[in-house]
Amino acid sequence: MKEKLSLIASNALEEIRRAKSSSELDNIRVKYLGRKGELTGILKELRNLPVEIRAETGKLGNEVKSSIEKALDEKISYLKEIEKQEKFNKDILDISLPGRALRLGKRHPVTQTLDEVTSVFLRLGFHIEEGPEAELDYYNFEALNIPKDHPARDMQDTFYIFDEVLLRTHTSPVQIRTYLKQKPPVQIIAPGKVYRRDADISHLPMFHQVEGFHVDEGITFADLKGTLETFIHKMFGSEVGLRFRPSFFPFTEPSAEVDIACVICKGKGCRICKNTGWIEILGCGMVDPDVFKRVGYNDEKYTGYAFGMGIERITMLRYQIDDIRLFFENDMKFLTQF
Ligand code: DAH
Repeated sequence: MKEKLSLIASNALEEIRRAKSSSELDNIRVKYLGRKGELTGILKELRNLPVEIRAETGKLGNEVKSSIEKALDEKISYLKEIEKQEKFNKDILDISLPGRALRLGKRHPVTQTLDEVTSVFLRLGFHIEEGPEAELDYYNFEALNIPKDHPARDMQDTFYIFDEVLLRTHTSPVQIRTYLKQKPPVQIIAPGKVYRRDADISHLPMFHQVEGFHVDEGITFADLKGTLETFIHKMFGSEVGLRFRPSFFPFTEPSAEVDIACVICKGKGCRICKNTGWIEILGCGMVDPDVFKRVGYNDEKYTGYAFGMGIERITMLRYQIDDIRLFFENDMKFLTQF
């Protein structure tokens, strides 16, 4: 019996030593330690032995069993380690490979210009106000001195929602809303979307404007000029030529439009500036006393200026873009250039 046990022990340990995979080890475990295994069979015979040697042989049998178990466990963890190492060598991590570049999003060029315009005026002491895009006819037109028969109210130009409600055609109604809730001094810019029934290479049914106005005692046209000159120099560089040209708006008197020297031909004359050398970039003027009367401002005591500009247009001039529709086609090739 003892010889049988030591033979089993040496055979089993040798087989374990030679095993090259965990499935081979499983088979060895079944062969010796399974319910019908060689060692299990011998241990069952123990009870037939004479008492004198039963205990001693039993002890040896248990030692053989645990040495086989121990050898199996050690070999399994050894093989696992090897397998891990092999997998590691195969999936080797090459830390010198260049990474995949993340594509960073960019702000839309119109948003960039809008933010820049806003920040210039914030530094000049203006505050931001906003108004609704669906606006009352009264604020968009009537209160701004644009009577019912004015051409700007033509159904061609305005999106009406109801008789007295429309999509605002400019940001000027924010003037009225501000005057009605706030006494002078007011120094406000009002950025936002505006809507007109229009669509070609320089017009869209929706675009952005920034309105500005400053009302207080003693505000003059010189304040308007100084403010706009500072603004234009910040946006287009301090060398850019600019001029105030007399114009007309129903809600300002006197009114002017501001031109800058053509950014394409530098004032020599080209297709973009229609050979005039100048490009109009905004409208402005001194707020008409009639507007003040309507909102309950004392027009003897207070004066103020106002201006309004189109943001798409300014963006087009800064980046020399000749078709406004490019802004809203969502073409990544266009948008990633800014
Ligand atoms: N609201 C005018 C427009 O949409 C622009 C404008 C002109 C605004 C003169 C003003 C201004 O505040 O004084 O064309």
